[in-house]
Amino acid sequence: MNAQESLGRAVEADVKSYQQRASKQLEDCLTAKDVLPFRLHEAMRYAVLQGGKRLRPLLVYLTGKALDIPVSRLDAPACALELIHAYSLVHDDLPCMDDDDLRRGQPTCHKAFDEPTAVLVGDALQTLAFQVLSSAPDLSAEQRLKMVESLARAAGSRGMVGGQALDMAAVGKQLNLAELENMHLHKTGALISASVQLAIHAAEHISTEQTQALLHYAHCIGLAFQIQDDVLDETADTATLGKTQGADKALNKPTYPALLGLKEAQIRAADLVNDALDSLKHFDADKVTPLHWLANYIIHRRF
Ligand code: IPE
Ligand code: IPE
Ligand code: MG
Ligand code: MG
Ligand code: MG
Repeated sequence: MNAQESLGRAVEADVKSYQQRASKQLEDCLTAKDVLPFRLHEAMRYAVLQGGKRLRPLLVYLTGKALDIPVSRLDAPACALELIHAYSLVHDDLPCMDDDDLRRGQPTCHKAFDEPTAVLVGDALQTLAFQVLSSAPDLSAEQRLKMVESLARAAGSRGMVGGQALDMAAVGKQLNLAELENMHLHKTGALISASVQLAIHAAEHISTEQTQALLHYAHCIGLAFQIQDDVLDETADTATLGKTQGADKALNKPTYPALLGLKEAQIRAADLVNDALDSLKHFDADKVTPLHWLANYIIHRRF
């Protein structure tokens, strides 16, 4: 094995252990299913604990690692990000939105349970995210408050929910590239940027240049992530994807491949990743190797 390969293996081992750490944190913060209301708690656990790449927690941990932040300070933000993300997926799949039957290789929450339960699961996961953040034991009161504010902004009507509103309004319409980019940056980019922002709030010392560089990295990979999501909707198969392939086309959703063609969409995503990698030049190379890995993973992933 050459030095490059062994570095790659080390990063992948790290990634796996952070994904497991995030899942354990999530397991611990979710209420047991034998607590009333049983069905709601069971459905919340179902929506969060059944699979998922844990990309947003990973981004919190890897940004924190680049900034030498003790891992215990990153657990609450990592967990909160995934709770908001899981809530967004449960609501995104509802019949009144994307009307999907399959998520993470399993029936969607409203299929496995029922629609009122799925709505309430989303509501309760969202409030749980803020409960976890505001009671984080290893963060100062000021850090917790900054995180709560940043996450609320990123999740709300000027962030993810706003992006979802744009998405619903765009069904069957022809958006131009700027409008499509704006929609993607909100519905998906906002939580990806928040993952980096929350890790930055956990840092004791960080320069303005480093903050800007990391936020630029997050902006680029956030958009690339949704472009790849659109690409996979066309190119992957349902079994690998764990969600129904071709769902965007069936619903007449504006996507990057629909607007630019598949090849151009892939080129755009790769350009964004290069741009993201460029901004990591402000850091010691060895500190940001995992963030390099993550940016590349975003466009090379198969699901
Ligand atoms: C899917 O997100 C929804 C988008 C924002 C594109 P992920 O692809 O991160 O979904 P999981 O968490 O791995 O299931
Ligand atoms: C989802 O976008 C974005 C959010 C859930 C906020 P999509 O609707 O493209 O996600 P998938 O493809 O269903 O995972
Ligand atoms: Mg959607
Ligand atoms: Mg969807
Ligand atoms: Mg999609």
